[in-house]
Amino acid sequence: MKTVFSSISKLISFILLLFVLFSCSTFTSTEAYDALDPTGNITIKWDVISWTPDGYVAVVTMYNFQQYRHIQAPGWTLGWTWAKKEVIWSMMGGQTTEQGDCSKYKGNTPHCCKKDPTVVDLLPGTPYNQQIANCCKGGVLNSWVQDPGNSASSFQVSVGAAGTTNRTVRVPRNFTLKAPGPGYTCGPAKVGKPTKFITADKRRITQAMMTWNVTCTYSQFLAQKTPTCCVSLSSFYNDTIVSCPTCACGCNNATDSASCVSERSSHLASAVTGPGKSTNTPQLQCTSHMCPVRVHWHVKLNYKEYWRVKVTITNFNYALNYSQWNLVVQHPNFDNLTQLFSFNYKPLTPYAGLNDTAMLWGLKFYNDFLNEAGPLGNVQSELLFRKDASTFTFEKGWAFPRRIYFNGDNCVMPPPDAYPWLPNTGFRPVISLLQPIMTMLASCVFLWAYM
Ligand SMILES: *[C@@H]1O[C@H](CO)[C@@H](O)[C@H](O)[C@H]1NC(C)=O
Ligand SMILES: *[C@@H]1O[C@H](CO)[C@@H](O)[C@H](O)[C@H]1NC(C)=O
Ligand SMILES: *[C@@H]1O[C@H](CO)[C@@H](O)[C@H](O)[C@H]1NC(C)=O
Ligand SMILES: *[C@@H]1O[C@H](CO)[C@@H](O)[C@H](O)[C@H]1NC(C)=O
Ligand SMILES: *[C@@H]1O[C@H](CO)[C@@H](O)[C@H](O)[C@H]1NC(C)=O
Ligand SMILES: *[C@@H]1O[C@H](CO)[C@@H](O)[C@H](O)[C@H]1NC(C)=O
Ligand SMILES: *[C@@H]1O[C@H](CO)[C@@H](O)[C@H](O)[C@H]1NC(C)=O
Ligand SMILES: *[C@@H]1O[C@H](CO)[C@@H](O)[C@H](O)[C@H]1NC(C)=O
Ligand SMILES: *[C@@H]1O[C@H](CO)[C@@H](O)[C@H](O)[C@H]1NC(C)=O
Repeated sequence: MKTVFSSISKLISFILLLFVLFSCSTFTSTEAYDALDPTGNITIKWDVISWTPDGYVAVVTMYNFQQYRHIQAPGWTLGWTWAKKEVIWSMMGGQTTEQGDCSKYKGNTPHCCKKDPTVVDLLPGTPYNQQIANCCKGGVLNSWVQDPGNSASSFQVSVGAAGTTNRTVRVPRNFTLKAPGPGYTCGPAKVGKPTKFITADKRRITQAMMTWNVTCTYSQFLAQKTPTCCVSLSSFYNDTIVSCPTCACGCNNATDSASCVSERSSHLASAVTGPGKSTNTPQLQCTSHMCPVRVHWHVKLNYKEYWRVKVTITNFNYALNYSQWNLVVQHPNFDNLTQLFSFNYKPLTPYAGLNDTAMLWGLKFYNDFLNEAGPLGNVQSELLFRKDASTFTFEKGWAFPRRIYFNGDNCVMPPPDAYPWLPNTGFRPVISLLQPIMTMLASCVFLWAYM
């Protein structure tokens, strides 16, 4: 009897596996798509504002329309390929990283002669006569929800050998946006209606000669092969602390001393600041999960009508500070969050009826800066939820989050059967059949959301 049942359940799992794989492959597309921010994109707008004897002057602006994904220091780099033999005579508010071969120009030398220039933002403190509006923030581009006033970045470019009418100008090709690593994919430039500008006194409207837009979207799958954060759980009703899954972001290789640094290492100072260490190579603290960031969710208190959670974000990277960090958390009780202490909060509703997702970020000048690993390398807050009698329960891990993103990247959750249980309940998670299916579904959603 038992063997019959087990073979039937195996058959069912197999059929479900086939079904899940099939639906995965039908939903998976090469377009980047984030289910919680379906229209999230960075739009690059290229406005030709005047013609010159041999080309034009354009203002290029990047708008970050992503709800919760930003670009932090060391900032963006933007590249493209010229369609003809264009050169950049001069720039304001930005510069190319390489000049290239300008040897055929005598006297007046262009700023850049490369066929595929790469532009970076200028640093704060650039002299005013080299600035334009929205420039000079070291390439930092904040997210649309967190800081809309700082979610755009501009530079001005004077292009030569380019054509001087809207019929002879060719739009550049192959835009590449890096943050500064990979992750973004940019579509082709689309010529559209010329932008209208309102003068400062609001009494006159001017118009660009030509305008084209490029849309870039992000995919975590393209950005890195390993996750960058993980989630650990605990509760007042069970002493067990469910730590991040072992090897969630990589494995601690004891024989390879370069892979991480131990907290107590006497060589720490030299390991962190030693010559030849780029500030971008992680100096990870050795942990079982090897994630640069851990989010801990502690179910702290149970009141009659409310319950309280403490969230702690810990940085395990000795070589990286996170400015303007953010979390996206999915939990059914976010439809009725009553109070939040020392974080900012905004509900995210990508679809009508979806009200279980929230974005959390730090208070300006208080905890919006997550310090490098060490005693200061954590931020925390408490959330107070109002119980809804029809859904609230401490059973079956209901009080724990369903999904967490840190800075827009999905965090690795512990397996559902490891969640802390209520003591003295007969409850055992139904893992035999349900769990592999849930895992498959979760990975399907993950693939679907990121490919
Ligand atoms: C980019 O984002 C803006 C603002 O959310 C949206 O209006 C636009 O449709 C998006 N573009 C694409 C191509 O998704
Ligand atoms: C060029 O400008 C003319 C006059 O403004 C306009 O009619 C035409 O559609 C433009 N062509 C292109 C390719 O933008
Ligand atoms: C643009 O990129 C594609 C694919 O990487 C390449 O095949 C093509 O030659 C590039 N075009 C230009 C103008 O560089
Ligand atoms: C380009 O993008 C900007 C910002 O989203 C938008 O206002 C403008 O209408 C777009 N123009 C074209 C030609 O698509
Ligand atoms: C650990 O690192 C050493 C040296 O880099 C390497 O030879 C070995 O294969 C690694 N082991 C694992 C399990 O990754
Ligand atoms: C992180 O910030 C602290 C305090 O502002 C600073 O002392 C430290 O050098 C920064 N670390 C890195 C890697 O930038
Ligand atoms: C949240 O969504 C659920 C399901 O769509 C709905 O039943 C509930 O009333 C919503 N709650 C709020 C506060 O909108
Ligand atoms: C939150 O829950 C309380 C009690 O269940 C209810 O009265 C209130 O309307 C809810 N608020 C929202 C925004 O759903
Ligand atoms: C706490 O939860 C763990 C599962 O994570 C379980 O093994 C343990 O028995 C629970 N403790 C109590 C006292 O129920």
